Amino acid sequence: MQWRLAYLIFLCLPLTQGVPTYAARTPDVSRRETQLDPRAGAALPGQPNYTAIPNGQAWYDTDGNSIQAFGGGFLLVDTWYYWVGQIFSASTGPPYNEALVNMYKSQDLLNWQYVGPAITVYTPDVNGVQQLTYCQVQRPKLLYNAATSKYVLWAHWELTASFDPSEVLAATADNVEGPYTLTAKGHHRPGAGNQDASAMGERVGGLTTDYSATAKDGSNTAFAYQPVSGSDYPPKVQQYGSVSASDPQAVSYLSQADGYGEAQIDNYWTYELTGITFNLTLKAISVQMTPRDTSFYEKYSPDFNVNAAAYIIRYPTTNRSQVSTTVFTIGDPGDERKSLVSPAISPGLDESSSNSTVFVHSGDAAFITCNTTGGTIWYTTDGSNPTVNGTEYWSGTRISITGSNLTVKAICALNATSSPIVSQTYTVVANTTSVPIFRPIVNLPSGTYSPDDSTFGYQSVKIYCPTYNTECYYTADSQDPDPPVNGTNIGYRSRDITVWQDPKDGSAYLFSASDNIYNRVWQLSDDFTDVVADKEYDVFTAVSREAPTVVRNHGASGQYVYLITSTQSGWNPNQAQYVRTADVTAGFDLPRDNTTGYRNGNSTWSSMEPVGDPSTYFSQSTFILNIGTDASPTYVYVGDRYNTVEFFDSTYVFLPLAINDSAPAATGATDSGLMSLQYTPSLQLSVANSSITPPTWKLLSLNKPVEATASVQLTADQAAAGTYNFSAQAANDGINFDVAPYDAVQQYYQPASVPFYWQVDLGQNYSLAWIGLSFMSVGGSDAVNRYRLSASADNSYWFPLVDNTQNLIPGFQAHVLSGSGNYRYVKLDDYNIVDVDHNKEADWEAGVYEISVYGNAPGANSSAISTSGPTSTTNTTAAPTGTVSAT
Ligand SMILES: *[C@@H]1O[C@H](CO)[C@@H](O)[C@H](O)[C@H]1NC(C)=O
Ligand SMILES: *[C@@H]1O[C@H](CO)[C@@H](O)[C@H](O)[C@H]1NC(C)=O
Ligand SMILES: *[C@@H]1O[C@H](CO)[C@@H](O)[C@H](O)[C@H]1NC(C)=O
Ligand SMILES: *[C@@H]1O[C@H](CO)[C@@H](O)[C@H](O)[C@H]1NC(C)=O
Ligand SMILES: *[C@@H]1O[C@H](CO)[C@@H](O)[C@H](O)[C@H]1NC(C)=O
Ligand SMILES: *[C@@H]1O[C@H](CO)[C@@H](O)[C@H](O)[C@H]1NC(C)=O
Ligand SMILES: *[C@@H]1O[C@H](CO)[C@@H](O)[C@H](O)[C@H]1NC(C)=O
Ligand SMILES: *[C@@H]1O[C@H](CO)[C@@H](O)[C@H](O)[C@H]1NC(C)=O
Ligand SMILES: *[C@@H]1O[C@H](CO)[C@@H](O)[C@H](O)[C@H]1NC(C)=O
Repeated sequence: MQWRLAYLIFLCLPLTQGVPTYAARTPDVSRRETQLDPRAGAALPGQPNYTAIPNGQAWYDTDGNSIQAFGGGFLLVDTWYYWVGQIFSASTGPPYNEALVNMYKSQDLLNWQYVGPAITVYTPDVNGVQQLTYCQVQRPKLLYNAATSKYVLWAHWELTASFDPSEVLAATADNVEGPYTLTAKGHHRPGAGNQDASAMGERVGGLTTDYSATAKDGSNTAFAYQPVSGSDYPPKVQQYGSVSASDPQAVSYLSQADGYGEAQIDNYWTYELTGITFNLTLKAISVQMTPRDTSFYEKYSPDFNVNAAAYIIRYPTTNRSQVSTTVFTIGDPGDERKSLVSPAISPGLDESSSNSTVFVHSGDAAFITCNTTGGTIWYTTDGSNPTVNGTEYWSGTRISITGSNLTVKAICALNATSSPIVSQTYTVVANTTSVPIFRPIVNLPSGTYSPDDSTFGYQSVKIYCPTYNTECYYTADSQDPDPPVNGTNIGYRSRDITVWQDPKDGSAYLFSASDNIYNRVWQLSDDFTDVVADKEYDVFTAVSREAPTVVRNHGASGQYVYLITSTQSGWNPNQAQYVRTADVTAGFDLPRDNTTGYRNGNSTWSSMEPVGDPSTYFSQSTFILNIGTDASPTYVYVGDRYNTVEFFDSTYVFLPLAINDSAPAATGATDSGLMSLQYTPSLQLSVANSSITPPTWKLLSLNKPVEATASVQLTADQAAAGTYNFSAQAANDGINFDVAPYDAVQQYYQPASVPFYWQVDLGQNYSLAWIGLSFMSVGGSDAVNRYRLSASADNSYWFPLVDNTQNLIPGFQAHVLSGSGNYRYVKLDDYNIVDVDHNKEADWEAGVYEISVYGNAPGANSSAISTSGPTSTTNTTAAPTGTVSAT
């Protein structure tokens, strides 16, 4: 993040109209931004005693460590709430790389005890295999299965360096606190392996909808279906150049000149095998492939712009090498690889039916490795003896064997000393039965390595594939690499997930975001550890939704199931939206798409409606708690506030959520009910009383007189449409959502120039409690506003409240104020807008959806931040319509 600091040095604040001249008088005053810490007494880290949830702030467990449980799930067991979530920080438990899912418990939802990691790289499957080494585990959720008396944890699983696999895991335990054991399927795509004709899932060699950024809809004939190659997991070693449409069967090996290095693990931008702090087993196999299947290319290329690499594919066959296994033990290597030894030339006699030569096919290749750390390899292929002045062997070079035979000789050299020469002869034969598919070769030997060994650095571990025209697959999870063959059901890709048990009948479901365009519901098996092969459909098609979060309003007796999702905008927050259904299973009976086999269940859910502000108050949904009863629910929305500058410092947002089945949505739609989310800087709740304590403050700014920098004029068409409002008044009209930044409903204050100011006259002096700012955000953008807030009693002398001119974080901002000053006027001075991801100006994104000033008349009790919370959520009459930030 150093580059961002560098940027700040050059940040300048131009003085123009609207920029306040700060009073040179003694700042008597002092209602200024304050750090919120709703802990009783002089609580310090290590002595937490929270009386409210500190939204968007560091939140410490009872050991004084910041709570690390993102994308979390909750389960109430007796009187204890259990919270599982992803870990970003090494501040708790084992090193970050080893603890994958943290668990905490609490009886009051305020003070959390660290239970320990629920899932680590050592978590075994039912066969004792540690399948979770070297991976990412996200968005864990917990269920309890009464029939089996087991706790079931589901999560999203990926490789460390890529999201290609798009898999899930399920693990069970007899006790909620563990230990958890993975199911036999380990990590997998839901539905994978089920070959029943009725089973949902993609078949290798079949077709799927093109899920590129532009091709979103299978019914849109502008985009072709894509063939399913099944090559996402296990990953492949990159060793071929791109496929040529004119000669698809030609094989062209990559070389260092291609920028990949040769026989490279994965591609140029991934950092596979870095950050290894645990023993790691690397397994690889070489696989005979089918000839390239050109039928999809022939079918689509005349009418569609399809590329050969994606449409001319081949499939693994069951004709494979033995598994090559390399075990990296992490510890002190001592002198293990320091002594000078001769290199190994592979493949060797151990894979040959002769004891003097290795039978090969023309085009097979030899590779050379040396066990001596820092050793250089020198070699010849003309029968002469290699010397350090001859030809150096570069890691990954294919020594291709053609003609009738070849002899490779090599030495390893270190410190001007050379090892004895080794030699291997290869003989090209036509007899296929005498030549095996050779095992892949790993350039580094098994053994002990230091965790900071450069061995595991960028592109240093390489896997070589000796047999001509085979592909090499590898795993880092102790499982034998087993790529799916033509016809295999590989299930459906699955990224953000949740699992949810319907209180109505006890059945449970997996909600899973897939391919950036689907969001699927899949019924779980009776024991909740797998999906039911045929009970699946898509809630969303052709839209990018993630972070699924589910609740049935009014629990067992409730009529509707609500699903909140966000759009996909990396780690930046965006406008959450919800849909609802009266029957979560209705999509299971829908017909399948003839080509892809998908079931489009869009129509079984209501229209998508916004909840929260355009950045969901700077959060992404992950769970909904009910601390009330079914009849009188008190919902707590749980979201993650990702800190894109420093992920360890990411925080949580727990907010009161109200659901009204019969009210119209904020947009006026009548088929979705009304979900409303209110922001509060700290949430005071009482599990014992099943309640959220209402705040003492009031929204003061709603519809009060404003003045501001001139706003953008509506065009004639916009004025005629009647759905546009860029005036200054739009920033305190109580309407604070944005379904789509470029649709025909645009209601936010859009200044005509930047810098700009906006100020509100509250009508009388107030003791200000906090100010919420919802800035323009184009669909989860990386633009941040840099601004100051100030206040005045007389519209003449302005006192600084907040300086956020070095802001690095996009999305909603809440500034808590403390002190004794009372003010009638509040002003925003916005100096510039910066796209922090690309480090450039983004003034084009200037705008304010809503500025909300909260406080009390002087004399009223407004100082007790820690005893304040939002309005009770049991009262769902939100006014005016469309108000999500105001009550
Ligand atoms: C937490 O604070 C409350 C209120 O100040 C106090 O009554 C209670 O004893 C404190 N609990 C602990 C464990 O410090
Ligand atoms: C790593 O492997 C070594 C050697 O087999 C073993 O002694 C050690 O216990 C292993 N460490 C872990 C955490 O499994
Ligand atoms: C090579 O030289 C380095 C120092 O230059 C020394 O530390 C190392 O032990 C030497 N290795 C061998 C095998 O002689
Ligand atoms: C390299 O090290 C591995 C693992 O210790 C060993 O099996 C192999 O025989 C060694 N090769 C050579 C050429 O010394
Ligand atoms: C090599 O194989 C031949 C027979 O195929 C056998 O006679 C000979 O003893 C073997 N040599 C060695 C060194 O094993
Ligand atoms: C390599 O070449 C250098 C001169 O460039 C010579 O001094 C040295 O003896 C040569 N070494 C070998 C092993 O041939
Ligand atoms: C190796 O091939 C060459 C010609 O390509 C041939 O002359 C020689 O006899 C062969 N050697 C063996 C051991 O087959
Ligand atoms: C091919 O090789 C196998 C095994 O080395 C041998 O049994 C077989 O007789 C050979 N076939 C021919 C046609 O040479
Ligand atoms: C893959 O399987 C399909 C049938 O499922 C078959 O039509 C096709 O020819 C197969 N392709 C290859 C390359 O084997």
